[in-house]
Amino acid sequence: MTTIESYESALDPARTAFAQDPSVRLVQDPAIGETRLESFLITFNALGVAMTEPVEGWIRRAGQACVDTGGSGTTELGEALQKHAAGEADHHLMMISDLRALCDRRTRAGRPAPDPDDMLGLEWPEPVHRYRELHEDVIAGDTPFAQIAIENEIELLSLGFGAGMLDNARTLLHSDGSELSFLDEHVSLDVGHTAFNKRQMAGFLSERPDALEPLVQAGTAALDAYRAFVGHCLALSPE
Ligand SMILES: [Fe+2]
Ligand SMILES: [Fe+2]
Repeated sequence: MTTIESYESALDPARTAFAQDPSVRLVQDPAIGETRLESFLITFNALGVAMTEPVEGWIRRAGQACVDTGGSGTTELGEALQKHAAGEADHHLMMISDLRALCDRRTRAGRPAPDPDDMLGLEWPEPVHRYRELHEDVIAGDTPFAQIAIENEIELLSLGFGAGMLDNARTLLHSDGSELSFLDEHVSLDVGHTAFNKRQMAGFLSERPDALEPLVQAGTAALDAYRAFVGHCLALSPE
């Protein structure tokens, strides 16, 4: 087994736990109904800003830390991460725009809608703090290269979970997509991003098989935090 194959199989439990999580499943299931999915998406976009706005900086800083550490494979990965970072700039603006459009939609339909600015001011729940701390700890620690595993796992979610949620939202909300720009963009964009992540990780692990464990730990922790985040958003969105 190559080291990247070992990585993939070590991520299996966290990926399966995510895919089988009841909240993760419900938001992709038409049984959730139009108004609850709409409410979930409002919360998801509002609270997701705190997990999306820092992404460009996280990737750039992790890349810089890799270059500073230096060594076999690490410098190359660091340089690639630094170049890749700009591709994540301002993605939180899509969430803010979708949040406002979803609240407008709700108002137009005569359903009580929250004030989008109040939603943006909500206190961050534990999974948001956990997700942010995970990145900061990776960047400040001895294994900044583990950022690539976090990126890989979260961007892979766009292709499965994100696509499932987008399909469900298009159907239930009869949406032309104008309230779903974050999901819509990521389902397409992250095809390229996950190909990049996989290539970088495979190259890095072939040079540094000893780095397997930190990559597995970071990828697993990112998935677990994101799974808790989805559950939290759903719990805050009763209808
Ligand atoms: Fe993004
Ligand atoms: Fe991306």
